[in-house]
Amino acid sequence: MQDIALAIIGGTGLYALADLQDVETHQPVTRYGALSGPVRIGTFAGRRVAFLARHGEGHSVPPHRINYRANLAALQALGARRVLALNTVGGIGDAFGPRVLACPDQLIDYTWGRISTLCEEEGTDVLHVDFGEPYTATLRVDILDAARKAGVALVDGGCYGATQGPRLETRAEITRMRRDGCDLVGMTGMPEAALARELGLDYACLAIVGNWAAGCGDDAAITIAEVIANVDVATGGLSPLLEALLAG
Ligand code: HPA
Repeated sequence: MQDIALAIIGGTGLYALADLQDVETHQPVTRYGALSGPVRIGTFAGRRVAFLARHGEGHSVPPHRINYRANLAALQALGARRVLALNTVGGIGDAFGPRVLACPDQLIDYTWGRISTLCEEEGTDVLHVDFGEPYTATLRVDILDAARKAGVALVDGGCYGATQGPRLETRAEITRMRRDGCDLVGMTGMPEAALARELGLDYACLAIVGNWAAGCGDDAAITIAEVIANVDVATGGLSPLLEALLAG
């Protein structure tokens, strides 16, 4: 098994990595079951990179049905040690408007009923991993350095609130999340981050703001078309950032 320099998990609006060359496709079945879809491994900026679409390449898997354990375990089995999670989010904090890229440093988990540990099955050792800093500090530093080198604007820090979905939030829920200290809201940040920690993977989130969260912008309803359009614009800066990250 060859090492993978970086595994990237793409979120809503990010179903493939453009410029991935000489692609091989893997779709192992893990001890945790099936993945969201194929893992595409290829060369990007001269390095071996893996890409997996979190919701499946046709966006068919809702946030609460994603097999987060299988996705991460498969990436690890294929040779990944570092995982960059791309998460499309809503913005709550003033600095986190549509099209902003952010590298959060904290999270709050509002999800429920998801398998959120490797030690779910009877007979597995119970794990109580440290999670005070939910994202790997060294990977965050490398991402922030890469953004600086590539001249890509990236907000350093912020608190990601993970909600259950698949519906969007009420205004009151977002008001509560703001009070709690959340800057961003998404549906897939957890249990992915905790499982990565249990697996011993380096893991960090690059959040792409697709919309103002409920009640934070104008009164218009949030549409998926608006979210995707903003993600498309914001991800223009992604390739240079990734190239700098892989060169570093
Ligand atoms: N809420 C939750 N998840 C999201 C949002 C949102 O407003 N936008 C994109 N993903």
